[in-house]
Amino acid sequence: MTPPPEPASSHPPGAGDEGGAGWLRLDPAVRDYLERGCGDGLTLAANRAAFDALRIMPRLLVPVAGGDTRLELLGRALEHPCLLAPIAYQRLFHPEGECASAMAAAAQGGLMAVSSLASQPFQAIALAAGSPQWFQLYWQGDRERTRRLLRRAEAAGFCAVVMTADAPVKQAALDLPAGVAAVNLEPPAPPPAAVPGGSTVFRGWMAQAPTWDDLAWLRGETRLPLLLKGVLHPDDAQRAVDLGCDGVIVSNHGGRVLDGAPPAVERLPAVAARVAGRVPVLLDSGIRNGRDVFRALALGAAAVLVGRPAVRGLADGGALGVARVLRVLRDELEMTMALAGCARLADIGPHCLA
Ligand code: FNR
Repeated sequence: MTPPPEPASSHPPGAGDEGGAGWLRLDPAVRDYLERGCGDGLTLAANRAAFDALRIMPRLLVPVAGGDTRLELLGRALEHPCLLAPIAYQRLFHPEGECASAMAAAAQGGLMAVSSLASQPFQAIALAAGSPQWFQLYWQGDRERTRRLLRRAEAAGFCAVVMTADAPVKQAALDLPAGVAAVNLEPPAPPPAAVPGGSTVFRGWMAQAPTWDDLAWLRGETRLPLLLKGVLHPDDAQRAVDLGCDGVIVSNHGGRVLDGAPPAVERLPAVAARVAGRVPVLLDSGIRNGRDVFRALALGAAAVLVGRPAVRGLADGGALGVARVLRVLRDELEMTMALAGCARLADIGPHCLA
């Protein structure tokens, strides 16, 4: 019998130097905005190295015919465990932006987390998806503004809230071209008055950053499932769950916030050991193929989120490009499961790693 074909690579044309047309047509500054890490790029590189170091153990002659990649996540039946991570300003990469991504996620039986910094109206994204998606919340400086944003998201029909807590200190952003903006946000609040000689970080940015009290407040403000994104320490995971969060996302923001932070996948076992019995633990930062998805699931993740690879797909082919990336990730995951003797996601565990 001929062996099954290798699935196509989830590194879509355009992801690498050879480049697909849509990707290469982008302004180099936009490509750099997507790809770069912060600082010296140490955490960005460490995310990849940590995945590469995890060995998957093949198992022989296991009957896996009829297997699948289905799961239930916070009450929602999904075809596979690869969600689209929240990514800001997706019209930078394709004119159909977030609508195209949401359409692709839904068509592939999955989910997208829509960024607070989406460049299209929440209602339009919800309509394009045709099924409820998740909303990623960035704190809006104070409770009133945050509540108003939350209400707009709830009115658009999002079915869960992902509060991102790992990026309170803003890094230098891209100069947005005309026509690309965070269209769902109110104009920014005036920054606190500068104190001569005072710290921009502590008196500026952090004066408007959320704290655990704000997370507790947020928990009381919405009936939707609430997940905390950016968790790397088990104590933070536990505190979030104790406050009533319904899930945690282990993430270092794709290596974009604190250079020197540990790889997310390295921190996953400790976080999963602390809270995985109580709430689902998700992971992002560095997932590049279906074997990485398998590795994350083996270490305790219920599902993963994919950032840059999906956006490269968006740049290359709009909704079809994103759908193709998701399909290839799933094909690669299925192939890995079959070779590791796992018919279902529940069969994947630490014993699958060598
Ligand atoms: C992000 N990320 C992000 N996270 C978030 O919570 N809200 C956001 O608006 C954004 N915006 C954003 C823009 C860009 C260009 C990138 C690359 C990332 C972080 C994102 O959700 C996710 O954590 C990482 O992208 C995951 O890492 P990989 O898959 O890109 O390696």
